[in-house]
Amino acid sequence: MSMSLGPGQTVVDVGCGPGTDLSRMADLVGDDGLVVGFDADPVMITEARARTAGRPNVQIHAADAHALPLKDASVDRLRVERVVQHLSRPSHAFAELHRVLRPGGVLAVADPDWDTLVIDDPDTETSRAYGSFVATHVVRNGGIGRALARLAVEAGLEVRSVIASPVVFTDFATGDPILQLARVMSRAVESGAVDPQAARQWLDRMGSGPFLAAFTFFIVVAQRPFLS
Ligand SMILES: C[S@@+](CC[C@H](N)C(=O)[O-])C[C@H]1O[C@@H](n2cnc3c(N)ncnc32)[C@H](O)[C@@H]1O
Repeated sequence: MSMSLGPGQTVVDVGCGPGTDLSRMADLVGDDGLVVGFDADPVMITEARARTAGRPNVQIHAADAHALPLKDASVDRLRVERVVQHLSRPSHAFAELHRVLRPGGVLAVADPDWDTLVIDDPDTETSRAYGSFVATHVVRNGGIGRALARLAVEAGLEVRSVIASPVVFTDFATGDPILQLARVMSRAVESGAVDPQAARQWLDRMGSGPFLAAFTFFIVVAQRPFLS
């Protein structure tokens, strides 16, 4: 996602996971800048530290997105990718993002909207039940993608752009590791959301026939107003 990184900036990646993007951001801010990655999961912290070892302008710390250990107005750029969907209090987290951004600072936040998940199958009822189960029971905030821009505005930020980007899988081998069809379908059956026989037949067709699944990923860039 684009948030115009440049030399000397302080950039914070909230929910940085294994730190996949930290080195690229560190190159862009240079020796006078600083990249800080926060994550709540100690396993991710260890991975991110290993991935960025030897980079003096990168720091990784354990922290919760709802309570960032940062001073007010201390950050130039904030990145929050595929994290808000997991948070217990998204509005609270957005208030925290606003607090730590300096006036004029920029937030880039992105999440899928699982309510947009479509999976092609002749049994449309089972596909719909599966999608609805994912959005309602598998992901904590399944429909957060479309709400990101509103949450940013409610926190006092000005939205600069909203991109809705389709994610499309046209083969089972690529889509299944992300969607985990068998595991999620078994939960849907257990909960009574899908008939067991229909689920078995649906899964057989997923693995054997033509495959198409898609959902929408929302990317929002927002700025803290200069006079705030
Ligand atoms: C799907 S991963 C995304 C990782 C990274 N942002 C990326 O795009 O590669 C979600 C990350 O959010 C972290 N996370 C979930 N809840 C969190 C919280 N309350 N505070 C901080 N991190 C959190 C998880 O530990 C996980 O590493």
